[in-house]
Amino acid sequence: MQVNIKLVNKKDRNYDIFIDELKELNFNTKVAVVTNPTVAKFHLEDILSRISAKELRVITVPDGEEYKNMETIEFILDECFKNRLDRKSVLIALGGGVIGDMTGFTASIFQRGIEFVQIPTTLLAQVDASVGGKTGVNSKYGKNLIGSFWQPKAVYCETRFLKTLPKREFSAGIAEIIKMAVTFDKEFFEWLENHDIRDEENLKTAILKSVQTKAKVVSLDEREAGIRMVLNYGNTFAHVVENETKYKTYLHGEAVSIGIIMANELALRLGLITKEEEIRIKYLLQRYDLPIDYKVKSAEDFYEHFFLDKKSNNNQITFILPSHIGGYLIKKEIKKELIIDVLRDFE
Ligand SMILES: NC(=O)c1ccc[n+]([C@@H]2O[C@H](COP(=O)([O-])OP(=O)(O)OC[C@H]3O[C@@H](n4cnc5c(N)ncnc54)[C@H](O)[C@@H]3O)[C@@H](O)[C@H]2O)c1
Repeated sequence: MQVNIKLVNKKDRNYDIFIDELKELNFNTKVAVVTNPTVAKFHLEDILSRISAKELRVITVPDGEEYKNMETIEFILDECFKNRLDRKSVLIALGGGVIGDMTGFTASIFQRGIEFVQIPTTLLAQVDASVGGKTGVNSKYGKNLIGSFWQPKAVYCETRFLKTLPKREFSAGIAEIIKMAVTFDKEFFEWLENHDIRDEENLKTAILKSVQTKAKVVSLDEREAGIRMVLNYGNTFAHVVENETKYKTYLHGEAVSIGIIMANELALRLGLITKEEEIRIKYLLQRYDLPIDYKVKSAEDFYEHFFLDKKSNNNQITFILPSHIGGYLIKKEIKKELIIDVLRDFE
């Protein structure tokens, strides 16, 4: 299966996303695979046996979001220089979103930009992080605030890699799939209600549908000036939840699940969705053991936290809300009282 990403106004930056199509990769340049020990243990040998290149190197960085920083980028750059990579060399990201974001960012700045290929190994990275060319690292000022838009040469999503993924990580990826279905695709949502994506064939279809959805959005709006913002459905609330719990309690996809529940409560009060639709979405999240409850300690504090998010400009919070299943609304002017009221429901 294959999806082509065509970026509007950037005809030279089109690329393909392949699903379960990776047999071999041939390069007549130097290639470095960037990965971490967790992923390497399970999948590096398999990948290395499929790559032929002028020279093949492996760059291993520590595993974890806490290493997604400039220090690790410096390390990867160092390894690129030590291994005498040049402008024609290719980096391959083998790992989850953390590896993908860092490899892409390094590729965008090494010798003013070299090609890179994504081989995402988490569900979240396959359906979301590896599609769309956002790269970057965290800094003391916030998450993903340093980075670039740099599109890969190709993306290879292999479902067999997901077999070694911990169950929680797998479910976290499903939250992103549900997020896209609710806002963009009623038929896909209904398909999800009737199919279990833990089944291998269904999983493949769900990845394909999600990648197609994200590809369409990104091709229209690479820089998040409009429709790409809709992918932040659930995120406005999720960022505060992650902040309040110091990024220790929930995986991002789990926080998104809670964020979806909160955004839906707001959408319900604004008459954008029905109670029945709200329940259907909740039910789908629950089916994959995603969290749907969160105890807000103080509605006022939670509200203030919105303004720490880089996506809230000029004291105005942007909410992405579902407009029935399969539709969305980007809403900027919502009265504080209404939001507080919604948050009080979670106290
Ligand atoms: N660029 C984008 O558009 C975009 C979009 C969404 C998220 N992100 C970023 O992605 C990151 C989250 O990605 P993630 O959820 O993939 O997290 P991750 O990369 O940290 O991977 C989660 C864990 O699973 C392990 N792992 C990866 N593949 C495995 C496999 N096949 N088997 C066993 N273990 C495996 C990893 O080593 C890690 O411990 C965040 O940094 C987020 O900012 C980027």
